[in-house]
Amino acid sequence: MNVPKKILEKNIQLKVFNINDIPNNWQNLCVEAKRISEQAYAPYSKFRVGAAVLLEDESIIPANNQENAAYPSGLCAERTALFFCSANFPNKKIIAVAIYSPDAINMLTPCGACRQVMLEYEQKQQRNIITILYYKDDVYVLNSVKDWLPFEFGSESLR
Ligand code: THU
Repeated sequence: MNVPKKILEKNIQLKVFNINDIPNNWQNLCVEAKRISEQAYAPYSKFRVGAAVLLEDESIIPANNQENAAYPSGLCAERTALFFCSANFPNKKIIAVAIYSPDAINMLTPCGACRQVMLEYEQKQQRNIITILYYKDDVYVLNSVKDWLPFEFGSESLR
């Protein structure tokens, strides 16, 4: 194998906090993600997920995963929440998205398709979107969706 001409490297940081050490509105967001996860429609996977979106006016939009007998017709909690926000509040910026599953055995990170959808809105609003993964008494915080998708393809790639 030849020595590479150059190595492109990206450093990603997930910051871990105790739930008691984060701002109140972030705590509320986590509580909402947890609450709404209990209402997930997940009869096939039995893996319930809740997501809660914090908008710039401090409102919180909660949603959960919605499954279907025709499996690919279902949708993750994150996209259910984000599409609702974009449909109803297209001009309100998204500050953060909290994600929780009572059925996860580790912190739950968003799937690839949800990361791509989050990236779309981050680029559209020209402001970073914070991801907050709520697991047990901890939260794992990622500051920008770009960090979920190093070397991303997004709207800016089409310019
Ligand atoms: N799921 C989510 O809602 N969010 C995630 O971040 C990962 C997976 C859902 C999709 C499906 O209904 C179930 O969890 C099992 O994959």
